[in-house]
This record gives sequence, structure tokens and C-alpha cells, in this order.
Amino acid sequence: MMFREADATAVKLSEYKPYDWLIDTVDLDFQLDPKATRVQAKLVMRPNPKGRRNAPVVLDGDELTLASIKLNGKTLAATDYDVSASSLTIKNPPREKFTLEIETIVNPSANTKLMGLFRSNAIYCTQCEAEGFRRITYFPDRPDVLSVYTVRIEADRDEAPFLLANGNPVEAFGIKGSNRHYAIWHDPHPKPSYLFALVGGKLDFIEEPFTTMSGREVMLRIFVECGKTQLTGFAMDALKRSMRWDEKVFGCEYDLDVFHIVAVSDFNMGAMENKGLNIFNDKYVLASPETATDIDYENIEAIIAHEYFHNWTGDRITCRDWFQLCLKEGLTVFRDQEFSSDERSRPVERIGDVRRLKSFQFAEDAGPLAHPVRPDTYREINNFYTVTVYEKGAEVVRMLKTLLGERGFRKGMNLYFKRHDGDAATVEDFLKCFADANKRDLSQFARWYSQAGTPELAVRGSYDAKAKTCTLDIEQMIPPTPGQSAKQPMVIPLRLGLLDGKGRDIALKDAKGKAVSDNLIVLEKAAQKFVFSGVKEKPAISLNRGFSAPVKLATNFGEDNLRFLAKYDSDPYNRYDAVEQLAMNELVASASGSNKSPEALIEALSNALDNASLDDAFLAQLFSFPDESDIAQKIGGNIDPDAILAARRKIKRDVGVALSDKLAARYQKLTNHRAFSPDAKAAGRRALRNACLDLLAATEGGAEHGRAFKQFEEADNMTDRMAALAVLCQHPIPERETALAAFEQRYRNDPLVLDKWFSVQARIAEADALGRVHKLTKHPAFSMTNPNRMRALIGVFAAGNPSQFNRPDGKGYAFIADTVLGLDSKNPQVAARLLSAFKSWRMLEPSRRALAEKELKRIAETPGLSPDVTDIASRSLA
Ligand code: BES
Ligand code: ZN
Repeated sequence: MMFREADATAVKLSEYKPYDWLIDTVDLDFQLDPKATRVQAKLVMRPNPKGRRNAPVVLDGDELTLASIKLNGKTLAATDYDVSASSLTIKNPPREKFTLEIETIVNPSANTKLMGLFRSNAIYCTQCEAEGFRRITYFPDRPDVLSVYTVRIEADRDEAPFLLANGNPVEAFGIKGSNRHYAIWHDPHPKPSYLFALVGGKLDFIEEPFTTMSGREVMLRIFVECGKTQLTGFAMDALKRSMRWDEKVFGCEYDLDVFHIVAVSDFNMGAMENKGLNIFNDKYVLASPETATDIDYENIEAIIAHEYFHNWTGDRITCRDWFQLCLKEGLTVFRDQEFSSDERSRPVERIGDVRRLKSFQFAEDAGPLAHPVRPDTYREINNFYTVTVYEKGAEVVRMLKTLLGERGFRKGMNLYFKRHDGDAATVEDFLKCFADANKRDLSQFARWYSQAGTPELAVRGSYDAKAKTCTLDIEQMIPPTPGQSAKQPMVIPLRLGLLDGKGRDIALKDAKGKAVSDNLIVLEKAAQKFVFSGVKEKPAISLNRGFSAPVKLATNFGEDNLRFLAKYDSDPYNRYDAVEQLAMNELVASASGSNKSPEALIEALSNALDNASLDDAFLAQLFSFPDESDIAQKIGGNIDPDAILAARRKIKRDVGVALSDKLAARYQKLTNHRAFSPDAKAAGRRALRNACLDLLAATEGGAEHGRAFKQFEEADNMTDRMAALAVLCQHPIPERETALAAFEQRYRNDPLVLDKWFSVQARIAEADALGRVHKLTKHPAFSMTNPNRMRALIGVFAAGNPSQFNRPDGKGYAFIADTVLGLDSKNPQVAARLLSAFKSWRMLEPSRRALAEKELKRIAETPGLSPDVTDIASRSLA
């Protein structure tokens, strides 16, 4: 077998060593050219007192042409240095301060990996995290080497009238007697190379001033492809709100004269936090009511906030090494979630965040790609920008806040900002700030960073009528994960409530009669007993309120307890969760052949519809049932995706039929003739109305299909139009094709909207789905090398259409494997992400499992694969 991976060495946290050199300043000079951009780098270096003495200078490089190299102004002899495919080594550098000048040539037009300097629709742009800077010049491309950058960019004035880089503008001039011009930028904040950015091209922009809390004026600009500025207003508004929020909540102020965002259409990720020059996938900037759904608006707001928040948690305090990725990502996700909670509805935000966590992170934790929030080894860092690092990383920060309380948490954050500003820090540094500020020992808590797997709690509740006590016996267990068989007990903060017969919260007292503060109990041992006294009647038990810990619960509380919580729980998350559990129980039973009607669920939903105190967005969550992969995860093994699809269809039909009058009345009542607004309340109304539409159509009545078609035709915004189209696509009716054709016609010149058209078809759960997807790959608007297009069609098929990806004949697997193999040489990062659609293959019933394994092996055995794909394939099979 030809595993290129066999010789790719793993990087280990335990082997961290500081770099041998300090680089105080980096001066870069770019001569932009589509095929041969010349990069001159001047590095002022000196030995690092913490490094080895007499070490050579080893710089990283990737796909570079070295044009010249000078040390202290003198060209180096060929014998003074070595160049390999991945490095440049200066064998005998001076043992004191010196300057190194390196000239490289790169080809941005040929850069299909979209890492380093590349072109997107003729715009020059960069993406350096994690290891893209080495594709621009030779450099120690690691996050603990911090330098002050000055950047000069020169280009043809016609080709690139705008020239941007990090920091503040210094000067910009035309060059006499030529068509060239240049701009110089200086960033006073020392930063690692992964935060470097440059943009050049024909752009349009909008600008607005912002006055920071100390009264400094900052100019905010959003740059887009020409002709698109009318789509940037919402992003600008979100940016200003983010800046204000970070001042108010964390005391974090912006620190340059300008803040720039550039939106480009070819981008591997969502967006990137380069200092002062965030670069975005245009999908997360551009919005209008006609082209963007409420979910798009919500994502734009969250991602603008996220990248902006990195200015303090990521840029000013960066990571010592890539093992510490959660230090910036988990923390920044926590911050953007808090921002969205404050700007929108806190309970609804929490429900959405937990749904994502359970759907994606719990699934990752349960499969072959499971890893700790802080991994201790990796072969390809690109593959560790995962839901575990991000979402579970955010949950760990949230638990810290729960354990320390609002004030204790803020004290810890303040100390972190103060103590580590300007540092490349570690998770230990971060935790120590909270420990020091609160005089708490967090050493056991730190296991959340090192132990992979989702803890499972077995909870036995009992009531003693004579003693008037309620007792919870709780055991924790963490399943084995790759490389970790035995686990140690975690610190698990559980918020809880006991409800009396009328559904009111009982004041919690411990066995000694002392009030339980914050309604919080903290599990620290493998098994623990908690006794609550003064409980006058058998209570209903509401555990893990607000999802205070990312764990799975198995209780003996029974279905009556769930029905009661669904009706009365004062904690909105647990109220939602009770309904979801009722739905899940029905779905699991139905998938294994039960034919009973979901009475408890229908009753809970009916009550909820009648309850005027519940808001629309919350109800919409109750009415969107667990999806097929959630159900598969709950079943846990021997998965038959067709049975799950059938169960889900049945529950929707049963609920739709049972509640059709109420749903139709609510649909009507929510019909709105006011002008579109993207605010959370209006979005909630649309979400509930569209959930009603979906369930009504599930009754398969012709009139209901007509209702969906009518909504599709009459919609005055993309949310309603798209929701109607998605409903139509679930039913093999003639209106479906009519609507799809009309949509294509209407939006054929708008790639971001066409992505929705590709996706909605990729999700059609019918036997000819693969044929349709295959045909769509030939559509003139489809492109394999544009990441948004590829993900919209093929990514969504693999991850969002379980019954068809998991076709019993294995053709879905073969199609995805072929796509991964075809894409790998062009864009390995995106290919590797697509491949991770196989992450739950071991849970499948034996025949599909064998077919999936065959395709994974076919990939793993293909010679010459990228490290990205090799890493995912081999870990998936291990
Ligand atoms: N730093 C990342 C961007 C990134 C990710 C660079 C992976 C290199 C590799 C950025 O801050 C980020 O996290 N972006 C997310 C969106 C965010 C809201 C979670 C993304 O791009 O998906
Ligand atoms: Zn981030």
C-alpha cells in the first residue's frame, strides 16, 4: 500500500519548543502580477534567548520559487543555505541581530488551494491561517513568532485600483510615467504570520465612522466586488453593533484607525480575522430581503461579530501553537453566541446552539474522528478546525462561567486580557487567570480540554414521602475514544429545578436545609448522591437546565415527567428539550417498526400552540423535529437510513393531520403584509409560519401542496420563497419542477442564490436524487473549484440527505469518494471536509457499512493523496 501519510510525521503538543529566533520586524514588498507576483521580504532577526544556541535558521516554504537571498545585504552563496520543497535553512547565521532579505515568486492564478496568495474573480487576496503564509515567502510559519509588519504593494492601476493590507494606511501614490501605483501599510501590533493579509483589485466599498469608547474615531469599510455595495448595509450594521457590544460587555476597544472587511467569492472557510483586514466568504456579507434568508442574516451577524471579536481573543492574544486553537476559537464562539443572545432571543439562541452541538459535535465525539477540545497530536492542522474545537470549546468556556458565576467569570476574563495582551498564550495560561482571579483550583476542570468523548450520566431520582426528600443518584461515564480508553471523572455543573404539582419551582435546599445557590449542583466524582430536603410532594425533575453541561442524560424519570416539563418548565431550554425528547422517543420507536400514534407529542405541541406566552421563534423550534442524523445518533447502531426517513415522514404526517386546523389557523394568522424586516421577531414569525406550512404539506393534501406553491409564487422575500420551495421539494408533485424552473430562471445570474437552488435539490430524499445531483454537476453555473458551489450541491448531498448518500447499493458513497479523489489535487482542504461525511459509517447496518468501508479503503489506498485527505481517511478507518 502507498500511504504517503506513513512518512508524514505527527506533530505533538509535548514536543513544543520555542523558535530559535526572534523576528522583530517584517517588511514586505509585493509586485502584484497574475502569474508571477514578486515578494521581497526583509526580516530583522536576532537569537531568541529562550531558543537553542548555535541553531540554524529554518524557515517554512511551500510551492515557492526562490529568486534571491541576502544576509546583511550580501547575497548568500549556494553553500550557505539549503532549500527543500518545504523549507529553507541558513546553516550558519550570525549569533547577533541581522537582516535577511528573501525574494520569492508566486503564481496567484494557479493557486486553486486558496491558501496563500490567490485570485478570486480577478481580485488578489490571501488566506494564511493556518499555514498559508509559507506559500507567500519563506518564514517561520508558526503562531508564536510575533513581528511588526510594514507592507508595500505595487500593482497595475487598472487591474488593482485598491491595494489593502493589515494595519493603518501610511501612503498611496501613483508611479510617474507608468501605469503602476502603490500603497504602504503599517501594523503597529506585533502579530503572527497567520494574521497577515493583503487584497488588491477592482472593488466597491461603503464606509461609516465609529467612535470608540475612549473617543477615538475609526473608519469602517466593507469592500465587495463591483456593483454589490447595496448588499452590505446589514453587515455594516452588524459590525457596529459588535464593536459596541465588545466595549460594553468585555471592555474591549478597537485599536487601529481603520477596520476593513473584504468579501470575496472563492473562499475555503466562512471568514478570517486578519488584523484590521478581515476577509470574508461573500456568502457571509451580502444580503438583501430578495436574496438572503433569515438564517443568512443570522449567520452574517454572528460571523461578522465572531471575526471582529477575534481582535482581542485571537489577534492581541494569540495562540502559542495550533494545539491551543480552542483558546481563540472556542472562546470567540462563546463570545459570538453571547452577542447573538443579547441581540436576539437568549432562549432561542441557546436552543439553536445546543441543537448544533448535539447534531454535529456529539456525532463527532461518538465516531472515529473524536478528539479532545485541545488535541495532543495532529498530522494535518487544517483537519482540526472542528466542531469539537469550536462548539465544545465554547461550551467549556460557558461551564467556567456557570461555575464561577457572572462576576467571577468577568474577573477571570479581565485578568486574561490584562496579563496576556500581546502574548501567544496557552490553555493553561487562560485557566490560570480564572483560578487566580477566583482563588479556585481548576485542575480537575481542565480535563474538559484533554479528555475526548461526551460524558454520559445515569441518573436515578427517588422521592421519600416520609422524609420529604428528593434524591438524585448520579453516575458519570465517558466512553472510550481513539487513543483514550480509560477516562477520569469530570467536573460537571448541572443546573436543575424541582417542580411542584402545579408546575411551580420549589426552592431548592440541600440535605441540611441550606439553600442551593444558583440551583446548581456540581458533579466531581464518578458517582455522587444529592439530597434535597423540604420537598412536600413528589416533584417533577428538570435536570441540566439551559444545557449547563454538554453531556448525555439517561434518567428513570419517565414519560410523565417529560410531559409535565413540556407544559410547565420555567427553563425555556428544558421545556423545548422535553418536547424534543417526546418526539425522539416516538421517532426511535417508529424507526424500529412501531406504528402507534405519537399522542404525547401531539398533546405537548397542541398545548404549546395554545400557550400565548410562548414566542414564535421558540414554537418554530418545537415544530422542527430532530433530523435524520440526530435520530440515527440516538439509535446508535445498526442504522437503516430508510427506516429513519420513513419514521420522520410519519411523525410529520401524524402531527400535521392531528393539528391541521390549528396549524392552518396559525399559518393564516402569521401571514404578514408589512414590509420585510430581518429582525429576530419578524424572523421568528416567518420561521413558525413556515414550520406550519411544512407540517400541513406533510398531510399530502392537494390543497396543502397548492398552499406551498402559492407561497412560493407570492413571496416577497427569500425566506418565504425558499421555505416554500423546500416544502415542494419533499413531494414528488408537478409543482416542484415548475417552481424549480422558475427559481432558476429568476436567479440565474446570482451565484449565492443559485447555491440555494442546488442545495434544495441535493436534499430531495428520493431514489433518483443521485442522478439529479450528478446532472446538476454539469449545470453551467456549477463549479467544482468554487467551494460554495461544491458544498451547496455535493456537500449538502453527502451531509444533508442521509437516505440517498447511504443508498443501499453504495452508489452514494462511490460518488462522494470519486468527488473527493477528483478534488484533492485542486483543493485538499475542501476535499478533506467532504470526506468527513463518512464520519458515522461504523454505525450503519452491516451491508451499508461494508460498502462505505470499501470506498474509504479505495481512497486510503490511492497513491499521491494530500496529507489532508490521507489523515481523514486513515483516522476514519482506524
Ligand atoms: N480563524 C477562522 C478561519 C479559519 C478557519 C482559518 C479554518 C483557517 C482555517 C475564523 O475565525 C472562523 O472561525 N471562521 C468560521 C466562522 C465562525 C463564525 C465559526 C468559519 O470560517 O467557518
Ligand atoms: Zn474564529
